[in-house]
Amino acid sequence: MNSEMEKDILKVLVTEEELRQRIGELGEELYQRFEGKNPLFLGVLKGSFIFMADLVRTAQVKSDVEFIAVSSYQNATVSSGRVQITHDLQQDITDRHVIIVEDILDSGNTLAFLKNYLLTKGAKDITIVTLLDKPARRTKAITADLAGFVVPDEFVVGYGLDYCQQYRNMPYIGVLKPEVYSN
Ligand code: IMP
Ligand code: MG
Repeated sequence: MNSEMEKDILKVLVTEEELRQRIGELGEELYQRFEGKNPLFLGVLKGSFIFMADLVRTAQVKSDVEFIAVSSYQNATVSSGRVQITHDLQQDITDRHVIIVEDILDSGNTLAFLKNYLLTKGAKDITIVTLLDKPARRTKAITADLAGFVVPDEFVVGYGLDYCQQYRNMPYIGVLKPEVYSN
């Protein structure tokens, strides 16, 4: 396949085949947990959009999908990350089993905030599914219920994850070359 992004990649961390295989397992696990429960898959935009599309097709459970968009930023003088909702839920989630679908669990700020937010909106229970888990950088006491792959403390892109909004459309997870950042 031609790709003008490939030259920016230092190494491949998770191949297309590994993604396909693992997401099949996650889907099967979700089926076992949620068969007959009509869960709501909630994708966190934008990073989760490709994972979400594949996951809901491997989890063949009656369900519906919803998206929420958040932006996290660091206040220069405060070390804790703050999270803002930039696109909110479009439906009532009272008493729903909510499955949060996230691209990567890093510091934990995003998911700690979202979990709390969804509980205040009346969710019955919350299950966190993250494609990638980067435990080295965790500052919040939060863990995923299901994680696809544990990754080292390196900045990764592809399969939905971006650097400056780019590389989301690469079909695998890779590490960017350092010179890409310094440009
Ligand atoms: P948090 O630090 O756990 O709140 O993660 C916030 C967001 O940062 C994630 O949802 C990703 O969108 C982004 N992020 C964290 N680490 C990486 C990475 O290695 N590559 C791309 N995006 C990342
Ligand atoms: Mg994200």
